[in-house]
Amino acid sequence: METSPIGVFDSGFGGLTVLKEIEAALPENDFLYLGDNARTPYGGRSFEIVYAYTLEAVKWLFGRGCRLVIIACNTAAAKALRTIQQRDLPRIAPESRVLGILRPVTETIGFRTRSKHVGILATAGTVASNSYALEIKRFFPGIEVVQEACPMWVPLVENNEGGGGGADYFVKQHIDRLIARDPRIDAVVLGCTHYPLLQAKIARYLPPGIEIVSQGEIVARSLADYLKRHPEISLRCGRSGRREFYTSEKAEVFDKLASLFYGRQVRSHEMEF
Ligand code: DGL
Repeated sequence: METSPIGVFDSGFGGLTVLKEIEAALPENDFLYLGDNARTPYGGRSFEIVYAYTLEAVKWLFGRGCRLVIIACNTAAAKALRTIQQRDLPRIAPESRVLGILRPVTETIGFRTRSKHVGILATAGTVASNSYALEIKRFFPGIEVVQEACPMWVPLVENNEGGGGGADYFVKQHIDRLIARDPRIDAVVLGCTHYPLLQAKIARYLPPGIEIVSQGEIVARSLADYLKRHPEISLRCGRSGRREFYTSEKAEVFDKLASLFYGRQVRSHEMEF
């Protein structure tokens, strides 16, 4: 049987934090990563544009042979996944699957909170979509969800300032706003691929007793479980431990910053939509 890599898509670098965790859970699988660095960030873009860019990326990954694609970008998953799954997939690739990264968190968050008050930290786009709140309500109708958009956090991380003193101001500002809105929160979801890189500072400014829920590991466990439950898809996934990286930017731009997110150097290829 012909096999193919699992496609992993992000607006740029952030999906590498998710891929790193997925790889730890599925080291033998082949992965093809696509970062749309030429058009990043998606966080402040409209629904129409995020949907159009994400669909283009998914189609490109299908064109490279991927039959399973993970949208490892919260903004893209929040704004485009449902339409792609329901409207586009049956038409363009009925045999293929596209999964996001919100569901694994929203379907388990109820087991991480005792107060039943949960905070979401994410990009402006993810917050505007209300996807986290709507999905959590579906699985756990009794949970109160408050959200805070943190538009400065992605640029801080991408400029390698996440560990610097300047980041403290913006991290504290958004944490304070979130907590002021609902002091009963006892679990906070890092709903953006970049935020694990700010986790130490986030932990510093959160009141004690609040659990930080980082999505990478949860997504990885959920994907491993999905592949077990779907042997018809799993059998079509290559298992020679191959990793390939594509970017819509210049390869040297991608390779320079990728290790910050991925933990090791990569050599990417350039692609064009
Ligand atoms: N990957 C995006 C997310 O998780 C953050 C970067 C962007 O805004 O494009 O929402």
